[in-house]
Amino acid sequence: MVLMVVPFIGSVSVSESLLALATVCLAYLILKFFRTKIPEGLRRLPGPKPLPIIGNVLELGSKPYQSLTAMSKRYGDVFQIQIGTRPVVVLCGSETVRHALIKQGDDFSGRPDLYSFQFINEGKSLAFSTDQAGVWRVRRKLAYSALRTFATLKGKTPEYSCFLEEHICKEGEYLVTQLNNVMKADGSFDPFRQIVVSVANVICGMCFGKRYDHNDQELLNFVNASDEFGQVVGSGNPADFIPILQYLPSPTMKAFININARFMMFVKKLVNEHYATYDKVQKTFVTSLTPSLTTMRRFLYFLVGFDTISTALSWSVVYLVAYPEIQERLHQELKDKVGLGRTPRLSDKPNLPYLEAFILEVFRHSSFLPFTIPHCTTKDTSLNGYFIPKDTCIFINQWQINHDPELWKDPSSFNPDRFLSADGTEVNKAEGEKVMIFGMGKRRCIGEVIGRSEVYLFLAIIIQKLRFHAMPGESPDLTPEYGLTMKHKRCHLRATMRARTEQ
Ligand code: HEM
Repeated sequence: MVLMVVPFIGSVSVSESLLALATVCLAYLILKFFRTKIPEGLRRLPGPKPLPIIGNVLELGSKPYQSLTAMSKRYGDVFQIQIGTRPVVVLCGSETVRHALIKQGDDFSGRPDLYSFQFINEGKSLAFSTDQAGVWRVRRKLAYSALRTFATLKGKTPEYSCFLEEHICKEGEYLVTQLNNVMKADGSFDPFRQIVVSVANVICGMCFGKRYDHNDQELLNFVNASDEFGQVVGSGNPADFIPILQYLPSPTMKAFININARFMMFVKKLVNEHYATYDKVQKTFVTSLTPSLTTMRRFLYFLVGFDTISTALSWSVVYLVAYPEIQERLHQELKDKVGLGRTPRLSDKPNLPYLEAFILEVFRHSSFLPFTIPHCTTKDTSLNGYFIPKDTCIFINQWQINHDPELWKDPSSFNPDRFLSADGTEVNKAEGEKVMIFGMGKRRCIGEVIGRSEVYLFLAIIIQKLRFHAMPGESPDLTPEYGLTMKHKRCHLRATMRARTEQ
């Protein structure tokens, strides 16, 4: 955001800048004069003083989750900043966030009318659209039941408990072979690039009975569009926060519209191809519940939850490499509880507490979704005694909750054991529930069950069969790159098949 706003200001003439500055200062003074009246008994939100035009953008820096965490130490769990000309209320602290999203769930369940959101899924996205509460609620219910069907649909072979398990197991096994082949050919592999294709294939397989080769250009274009989407949404579009910019040409906005159009074209092409060619006997998710093509196109949009799953898996592999002793302990658990002669299943999960604890610690430590999708108040409300007007944009800092020293002992160290019971035989559920990565309350992620199942099963399969290492002389870099979903730096790793003797 900083980097994008400042160059724009530099590209207009000096006289235009001065005129704009004077107008904005005047508007600022007028607005200050007519500041929102605070109802009796409530307080005005604290927060840093904003500069005209850019607000507090400079203080946000390149790691807003950290700078906003630092601000919460000064201003408390509820405070206001200004991004451009838009006031944004930031919520931190587990109790405060729980209060807002659960106890006062309706008040905080809206989405802000950000200019860029109207270009996502032609303005009809469940996650980003600013639908009236009634419309969103119906859509969410429909989407939820579609996903439940998706997750529990019976498999083709009795060997698998459900269709989802069948697809993950098969893709997990392909991934092991693929990594082995890439290692033989190139001597290293790019974890994100390989994993994302496997995760996308689970969705494409279930929806269309189609899987892609790991080098398929069409799929890679789609995957890259999703990556660019996250980067643009995560860093913020200047036009979302300085409304006048909507009327001026902007390369960022042009790129964003283009990404969304590419995304939409790919999904439409897949659906149309599927309808033209599908075998009526063949069972896929699309053919099993399509009421109409339009509804299906909309449904398909939330299946792109694959970016979050791939990010979680790719981070997990990097952590395995960074902590080899944890990797060995995970393999040992699989060896003891599942054995090495068969592929792990969803039903093995309760017997693999260390793997579950590892996944929770990856979610907590990486906090790769540092904020939820922005929320917005649906009416005038209050929190912790502060007045928050209707239609205020709300940022929820999940990273702060996952690194709060009040909640976690030594939050910066990576330690899956923190989630295990004293004797190490089971996961401490209460500790696990403190991790915030799927949001909370009315807008909580609807793909959570699918997300958790996929991350668990893919990991169980690859850890059982492979050992991951860094390149000679290198150590993995765990610094996240900021975006809607934060990725680790693209890197190359090595994988070796575990020797037969280990099996
Ligand atoms: C590890 C995987 C995943 C993580 C960490 C994750 C996390 C999140 C988060 C943080 C939100 C925003 C919550 C809020 O705004 O308060 C969200 C919303 C959402 N997620 Fe996920 N997600 C994952 C996987 C998925 C999958 C697999 C799907 C679909 C199959 C999905 C579909 C959605 C939808 C539709 C919403 C919007 C809900 C609404 O606005 O009402 N997610 N997710």
